[in-house]
Order: sequence, then structure tokens, then C-alpha cells
Amino acid sequence: MCGIVGYIGPRDATPIVLNGLKRLEYRGYDSAGLAVLQNSHIEVRRDAGKLARLSALVNEAPVHGHVGIGHTRWATHGAPSARNAHPHLGMTGNVVVVHNGIVENFLELRAELSAEGVVFKSDTDTEVIVHLVERYLATDTALPEAVRRALLLLKGAHGVVVLSSKEPDKIVAARIGNAGGVVVGFGEGEMFVASDMPAILEHTRQMVFLESRQMAVITSQGLEVQTLEGKAVQYEIHSVAWDPVAAEKGEYRHFMQKEIHEQVRSLTDTIAGRVDFEEGRIRLPELNLTPELAQRIRKIVITACGTASHAGMVGKVLIERIARLPVEVDIASEFRYRDPIVDHDTVVLAISQSGETADTLAAMEEARRKGAILWANVNVIGSQAMRVADGYISMQTGPEIGVASTKAYTAPLVDLYMLAVLLADLRGVLDEQTRRRLVNDLRLVPDLAGRCLDREAEVEKVARALVNTRHCLYLGRGINMPTAYEGALKLKEISYIHAEGYPAGEMKHGPIALIDKDMPVVVIALRDPWYEKMFSQIEQAKARGGTVVALATDGDSLIATKADHVVWLPETPWMLSPAIAVIPLQMLAYHIAALRGLDVDQPRNLAKSVTVE
Ligand code: AGP
Repeated sequence: MCGIVGYIGPRDATPIVLNGLKRLEYRGYDSAGLAVLQNSHIEVRRDAGKLARLSALVNEAPVHGHVGIGHTRWATHGAPSARNAHPHLGMTGNVVVVHNGIVENFLELRAELSAEGVVFKSDTDTEVIVHLVERYLATDTALPEAVRRALLLLKGAHGVVVLSSKEPDKIVAARIGNAGGVVVGFGEGEMFVASDMPAILEHTRQMVFLESRQMAVITSQGLEVQTLEGKAVQYEIHSVAWDPVAAEKGEYRHFMQKEIHEQVRSLTDTIAGRVDFEEGRIRLPELNLTPELAQRIRKIVITACGTASHAGMVGKVLIERIARLPVEVDIASEFRYRDPIVDHDTVVLAISQSGETADTLAAMEEARRKGAILWANVNVIGSQAMRVADGYISMQTGPEIGVASTKAYTAPLVDLYMLAVLLADLRGVLDEQTRRRLVNDLRLVPDLAGRCLDREAEVEKVARALVNTRHCLYLGRGINMPTAYEGALKLKEISYIHAEGYPAGEMKHGPIALIDKDMPVVVIALRDPWYEKMFSQIEQAKARGGTVVALATDGDSLIATKADHVVWLPETPWMLSPAIAVIPLQMLAYHIAALRGLDVDQPRNLAKSVTVE
């Protein structure tokens, strides 16, 4: 997962940047680089591979200076290679950029810049940023203004840091949305900037966290912050605790809240390197899925526990719909005792954050015994589930500390979507136009997640209204039926409130008897193929005196007149909507539990990894 570090001050920037990058190593990356201003000239060292490779490059051709920026990259656009590694220099060699996030409209911007005569030297989306900055610098604009104007053209969520040899006394950094944070650290006559606090914590505990759409102009003596609209911002300096665990939590109260907010970044990393936006194709090489194998598969059985099983339910809808392959979802603790019908043309796909869940491993063992093809979708690299599988998709979320799974739920949803498209492509059941559209829609995901996160205050208001409830019903249908299950699971496991997820169509067959003023009903009623059915659920709940919290698509004025509370979601392609719709439900559960003063990260009776049957 990408990381950024920068330094400006009297010391040599190179070791500070290299050490800072080292502190971000745990996030995972496949290339690294740095740029240092040496004698009024920008020197770049970068390559694919680990930081040891970058250090070797710096040893071979040393570089020293008082201003520098560095980056660890997890490839999104373009393979991990020296030419695609950050920092990216512009045509003049005077400007250099590092970047976290995805420039959603990079194809359009690249075409525009190429027409202006820009020659691109990498396959990355990031490179458009440096050329846009140079476009404005060419008209005698100062660096901060040029960066500001360039950033206004970008779609998506971003963390960006820019350096120019023509204005060597400053670093410009900005955050748009939630592609990871941008934190600025204060030293004595020196300043630091990073995507994550641990990168600079050894130097300072005085930090400023940029909000979305804020830009910082950093000199060795301090910083000025403005909005992307050019309005000056009064910033607050936070004194960060020394405790490394607290430091890891950063600006958040709990790991769960941090991990909810990390989803823009984890979803960016999830599609990183797996999507070829130009060709409209998906690559999942670790799955070892050949065209022959794709043709041979007769059935997929997804097996998992808890949250991971809810991801599997969404996967069923996606794979059946896109790849036209039958899919069963089996709770792992049931699978092995059922004498399941699987054979060598069946794929058994285990989903597990930890990759060590005893029930899931036992199900995999049973599938192996019966000769099935074994796949795993896991987060923990090197875990047992990954080791025993014939192929795997690794979740790119980084470590998940909170016992209640959040970012390790949305990542597999996107993994399964990509798997569905890949299977469909290899089985020849997708026309090119549809394939391209499905692949293209992936670009929207990180920013849509960020737009949900921006609405946390609205969700917190709803949490205040529900904080004393004793029961709660969650209703969803179609692809968001599992979202209702997952929302309910989140609430029950951290707030100890009794919550049920239900397929909305089943209401009339029993649960409707429960509805009265003491039973709030959370209804997922997005503008999707099930909208009308869900709308009628709201009417039915209201008719029985229930309090309705609706998850609705922006601009749905009808729902606003019916529901007691509305949590708004940006319009999202329906097949990707579970990864977006669950985010407010995670925040709702989180805020209810936090308001009740509970131990959010380590709820009673639960373990992060359930290694007993
Ligand atoms: C999620 O919030 C729960 N803690 C739990 O349901 C979890 O998803 C389940 O135990 C499966 O874990 P795994 O993904 O590590 O296999």
C-alpha cells in the first residue's frame, strides 16, 4: 500500500526519507523511490523491489540535500518497474510528484496533455499530475497555485506531495478525499510530511492532519494551509502520544474507526495492479486460473464464516450474474458435516481475513479430500488458507486490528467482482462493451467510499437517536441482502444490541410481527433493481409504527418524506454497491458502541481469529 514521506530543513533529507519509508514498510509495496533537491537540481532514485534496492541505488549514486520526498508504491496503473515507480518528474525536470490514490479521469487528462505535446514516460495515472502542474507553471504561476489548479482537475481521492527546484524553499502537499491521510509534522527549524504518522514519529509529535480538499505549503519554518478553492485555513496542531499503539491509531479513537476510514486506501490497493483500465481486463495471477480451467469449472462453492460468509453471499450474486456460473455459499462450520457434493470440476473458494479460522480450514480440508479445486481469498499473507490453496487472491487491506471486520469485508467484495469479470472473460460469456464498462466502474469505488466517509457526522446523529434501542432489524434485498446481514452483525458484536439481518421479501412471512415503535428498522433502499420492493418495505414498517432508518441514493426525495432518518449514499453501480452501502452501517454500529462507552476494538467474548472449532 502506497506511502509518502517528505522532509525540509537543515539536515540531510536522504536518510530521513529512507527511514520514514522503512517505517511504512509494513503496509506492503512493490517499488520505492525518492527525490532530493541537490544543488538546485532534482535527483531521483527509484526502482521496483524493496527498500534495500533503493538504498543500494542511493549508495551507488549518493544524493544529498535539504529537501526530499519519497514514496513506496503498490502498483495501480502500470507494472512495478523503475519507470512506473514514484517520484515522477515532469518534462522540464524541475518538478517532481509523489501520489497516493487513483486519478479516475487519467485517460482523458493524458489525451488532453498529449495533444498539448506532453511526452509520457510511465504507464501511471500519477504522471498526469506533474504535467498539469508544469502546464500552470509555464504561465508564470507560483508552485502552490499551479498545484492547486492542477488538483482541481483530478477526479477521485488523492494524497499528493510536490517539489520544485525553482522554489526550493517549500514542499506542497494536499489531500483530496480519503486516499490515506496527509500529516505534517513540526520540528525545530525543520518540517516533515507523510501519509502516515509512524513515518515521522521519531522526529516529532506535533502534527497537523490535513482535511479533505486542503493543501499545505510547507517551509522549514512552518506551514500555511488553504482549501483547494484558495481559502486560508486555521489549522490545529495535535500533540500525539508517544505510545506506539496510540500512535498507530493516529487521529482516531479506536482501530475500528481508523480501519473504516482506511477503506478508500484499501479499496484503491485492492484494484491496484489487478486492473488494466486501458484494455478493460482483470489480472489475478496468483489464482492460477487458465482459460482451460475457467471452461472446466461447473460450480463454485464459497465457504466462510461470519463477515467473510456475507462477502461470499455477495460473491454468489456477482459470479452468477456476470460469469453465469452456479455458486453455492456454505457456512464453513456446516460444510464438512454435510457430505457436500463437490468434485474435481468444482471450485471451493474459502474467504477468510485471518486465513486461520479453524472451521474454514476444516472445510478446505474436506474439499481437498473430495478432489475439488481449492482457492482462497485471504488477508494474512502466508496464512494456512493461503498455503493450502491451489490459487489465491490476497486482500490488500493491510493488518486489521479491530475484532469487528470492516476493511477486510469490503476488499473481498471487490475481489469477488474482479473474479466474476475474469471468469466471464475467460469463459467467453461477456461482450467487450459490457466487460469494459464493468472494469471501468472499478475506478469509481475508492472515491465513492470516501464520499460515504465524509458523511460520518450525519451517521453519528442517527447513532445518537438509536443509542438506547434494545433491538434492531436490518432489511435488504438482492445484492444488498448480505449488506443487511453484515450491518446487523456489526451492531450486535460491538454494541451488544440484538440485531437481525433479514431478506426484505421474507418480512411478511414472520418478522413483520415484531415491528412496533421499539423496533427500529434499517432499510437498504438504493436506486437499484430492487428499489420499488424496498420502498414498499418502508411503507409497511411505517404503517406499523416502526422507526425507519433508510439508506438511500442521493436525490431520492420520495424516501426523505417517508423515513424517520435517511443516510445518503452517492449513486453507485449496483453491482459494486455492497462495498459502499456497508460503510455507513459500519459507522452506525461504531458510533452506537462508542456512545455506549464500550470496548469497540475488543468486544466481549470475541476473538480476532477463531482457531478452534
Ligand atoms: C467479523 O466482524 C467477525 N469478527 C467474524 O465474523 C469473522 O468475520 C469470522 O470469524 C471469520 O474470520 P476470518 O475472516 O478470519 O476467517
